[in-house]
Amino acid sequence: MPASQAVPPTQSVLSPLTASALFLVVTVDDGGEEAVRELLADLAGLERSVGFGYPGGGLSCVAGIGSAAWDRLFDGPRPAALHPFTELAGPRHHAVATPGDLLFHLRATRQDLCFALAALIMERLRDAVTVVDETPGFSYYDNRDLLGFVDGSENPVGLAAADAVVVGDEDPDFAGGAYVITQKYLHDLAAWNALPVETQELIVGRRKFDNVELDQPGSHVDLNTITDPDGTEREILRDNMPFGRPGSGEFGTYFIGYARTPEVTERMLRNMFLGSGPTSHDRILDFSTPVTGSLFFAPAAGFLEDPPGPPAKGAGADAPPERSPGG
Ligand code: HEM
Repeated sequence: MPASQAVPPTQSVLSPLTASALFLVVTVDDGGEEAVRELLADLAGLERSVGFGYPGGGLSCVAGIGSAAWDRLFDGPRPAALHPFTELAGPRHHAVATPGDLLFHLRATRQDLCFALAALIMERLRDAVTVVDETPGFSYYDNRDLLGFVDGSENPVGLAAADAVVVGDEDPDFAGGAYVITQKYLHDLAAWNALPVETQELIVGRRKFDNVELDQPGSHVDLNTITDPDGTEREILRDNMPFGRPGSGEFGTYFIGYARTPEVTERMLRNMFLGSGPTSHDRILDFSTPVTGSLFFAPAAGFLEDPPGPPAKGAGADAPPERSPGG
């Protein structure tokens, strides 16, 4: 069954790229679980409260839940492929795993709508969570990243996007959900901008001015074009956003990739950090350093509104709940 048919409605994982976004990652404090469960159940209502008055505002919020937090929040089965983010130590570059129990991925055409919804979320969670990262993102010129290249053009669309992103009957309890991997990258823009544009283009695998793809083995595009042994291309849906604070010299790309299984994004990350064939690593990493790395599961919309009960008291008393840096 393609994931696009007869699966419960997803959260807004398939929403288009917007002009503004806010990425909020928190850990759940001991004893904060019930407040989180209640907030998650009310999240769609809060989104309507803020967004309804601004029909063109495109406000959406996807909530993702990390591996360790899942067992603290819900009784019953867990998403089959949910696990902590896998740290990668390559020959030159390191994909770090950092704490993250909950991700809120807010999008809108205007930053004030993201801000307003995030404020309502935090009003409810203030005493229940610890914020580990809060990054507002913005679209930059014609959907360019801060390296100056158009980012997102090869994203799947329509049914192909749903098929790449939404869990289907391979995990029936969690159909309608999606896995999410996030990494916050900081760029060394001075070093990048010192390269000739032709060199930048060979590293990315696209022309800078007009975004035309280049046939360049070992480029970022090449390392992230992955196929199964039968030749089927495996895709993810990226909603990357630039962020930064020019006054502080901070320039970055917030990478966020949705996928039906984290395995696809993880293959891409291995190619980038550990290399593939004669390519030792993705040269984009010589100018871009990830400072976070987390994996979440964004359950179907109905799951959040009517979740299973909390884990039975004392569950895991013999075996404490898994706690790992990747959440
Ligand atoms: C510093 C962070 C990153 C930047 C600035 C960046 C930028 C880009 C750009 C400019 C493109 C070409 C246009 C497009 O198709 O979107 C691209 C393609 C792509 N990137 Fe990235 N990217 C980053 C990190 C990642 C990561 C961490 C992954 C996966 C784990 C990834 C996966 C992909 C994929 C799948 C494509 C499309 C390949 C194709 O043409 O089929 N990117 N990226």
